[in-house]
Amino acid sequence: MGRGGSAGTLAGPEGHGALDVVLEGLRRLEYRGYDSAGVAVITGNGIESRKKSGKLTNLLDELQANPLPESLTGIGHTRWATHGGPTDRNAHPHLADGGKLAVIHNGIIENFAELKRTLSAQGVEFVSETDTEVAAALIGELFRGEAGGDLTRAMQLACQRLEGAFTLLAIHRDQPDTVVAARRNSPLVVGLGDGENFLGSDVSGFIDFTRRAVELGQDQIVTITPDSFEVTDFNGKPAQGREFQVDWDAAAAEKGGFASFMEKEINDQPEAVAQTLLGRAGLDGKLQLDELRIDPSQLKAVDKIIVLACGTSAYAGQVAKYAIEHWCRIPVEVELSHEFRYRDPIVNANTLVVAISQSGETMDTLMAARYAQEQGAKVLAICNTNGSTIPREADAVLYTHAGPEIAVASTKAFLAQITAAYLLGLYLGQLRGNLFTGQIRDILADLAKVPAKIQTVLDDSDQVKKLARTMADTRSVLFLGRHVGFPVAMEGALKLKELAYIHAEGFAAGELKHGPIALIEEGQPVFVIVPSPRGRNSLHAKVVSNIQEIRARGAKTIVIAEEGDTAVQAYAEHVFYIPETPTLLAPLLATVPLQVFACELATAKGYDVDQPRNLAKSVTVE
Ligand code: F6R
Repeated sequence: MGRGGSAGTLAGPEGHGALDVVLEGLRRLEYRGYDSAGVAVITGNGIESRKKSGKLTNLLDELQANPLPESLTGIGHTRWATHGGPTDRNAHPHLADGGKLAVIHNGIIENFAELKRTLSAQGVEFVSETDTEVAAALIGELFRGEAGGDLTRAMQLACQRLEGAFTLLAIHRDQPDTVVAARRNSPLVVGLGDGENFLGSDVSGFIDFTRRAVELGQDQIVTITPDSFEVTDFNGKPAQGREFQVDWDAAAAEKGGFASFMEKEINDQPEAVAQTLLGRAGLDGKLQLDELRIDPSQLKAVDKIIVLACGTSAYAGQVAKYAIEHWCRIPVEVELSHEFRYRDPIVNANTLVVAISQSGETMDTLMAARYAQEQGAKVLAICNTNGSTIPREADAVLYTHAGPEIAVASTKAFLAQITAAYLLGLYLGQLRGNLFTGQIRDILADLAKVPAKIQTVLDDSDQVKKLARTMADTRSVLFLGRHVGFPVAMEGALKLKELAYIHAEGFAAGELKHGPIALIEEGQPVFVIVPSPRGRNSLHAKVVSNIQEIRARGAKTIVIAEEGDTAVQAYAEHVFYIPETPTLLAPLLATVPLQVFACELATAKGYDVDQPRNLAKSVTVE
């Protein structure tokens, strides 16, 4: 499986060589994934392919050592592994139909295990651990059988059987002037050239060759030849994409038209959460982890969980604590990885350590996890980077499928980590019998609604941005929250510190009266994360009193509240509403306006939000 960039091309006789176009596209798309890359072209001898784990340069070296012949039709892929490690063998393209068909894929095919079983029973042999190879085999079987040697038909029939999210591109030796592609819940754009046509995960894949593009709709298939393109739905009915002119430069195109990777990644969050949720329920409707090297009986015996993480990932851990304790009735401690090792922590074989790390390479967390393992604990990693050190050494892994996070400050990985932590809580609740199947189903149904709600928050974020732009001269901002709103407040403060270099603090709202309230003076901006009035009512009432206390002392209150909560309006200078959602899940929504605020304010100050000063994306020193 993979999430990544796919570039496909079909070059006409007057056009550019397919390999050059594909490699140029992959170079531009490498930001989408960089743990392996591969290409396949149609030549006089059939399909020839090269693929290599690691960055694109490894593939270029391979092509130097083993060149491919000139060709007019080719596809290529740069991978961000989700399942199936980042190896040469798992790299795309995957071949089928006796090497005559090549397929690349982004996304996750949820029913791949079932399809694999059926295809294996029919005698198909698989060489990789990927779901992509299963999709390739299915298209291959259909091409030879029901589709009567028509690649478009084979793709349509295959897509009718695939579940999940996918962009698929396929070429077949017997139709050398055709590339067929399909999309469901994963992006795909066609580039229209002069006597040559292109396909890409986004326009940066072909921006050096054409600016005329067609965006495909959901559940559509496109067939390109050098001088035509035809769109259908999965049933073969004619359909239409949306044609547009690309007016971004190449750098903006990589950022999806946004001014920064950070802004793009904030806007990627509905997809990051949706992808992290995808494919978790097995055929029996039960939740499953990605890698499990712990005996389930040991997980049942766990009597304490320690979450180890740093920075933003540690705040995701704090949210996890509320959910896991509530659902599983296991005590959860959250500890900064670098503090953990230097005291004398009580860890034994019944302790489950959950190491949360976007990069999977944070030295503090790696060392702490190793230490915990030495003490006999089992380590479960929640990680965004397949094949990185922390998940490699862990006893179990739950990957977040946020895709590569380029901006140094974490945004989409944070929401994906929280989502994964919820899944872990539900998994443990299921395993230990703390939750009934119906309860798990209800919570998963609530989670499934979250991506659309995040989109609503993003769509309504103009006022947040407007406020941020008026606050560029602010010297200090405070953030208050209770319950799961507390880690959200701390994350809001961290984003502002690291992006806008403004002093910011996140407090537990109840702690205010024990000291920090002394900081409040006339005009002090304070963000308050207000819990749902539908939840535990005392919580809402308490936070509303906290707002009154600080307002009485001159604070300028900026409130994040649930839609319909009119009670807060009287006490707030500004209110930003988020859609209704169960209290435990609210951090997935409440964090978003704070990210948007920090990003916009830092931009208004003229700072580089993708690479804030003094920071590195992956902190590999202690
Ligand atoms: C803040 C941020 C950092 C990281 C921290 C841990 O925006 O990105 O605080 O969360 O350095 O990194 P990972 O998750 O890679 O272990």
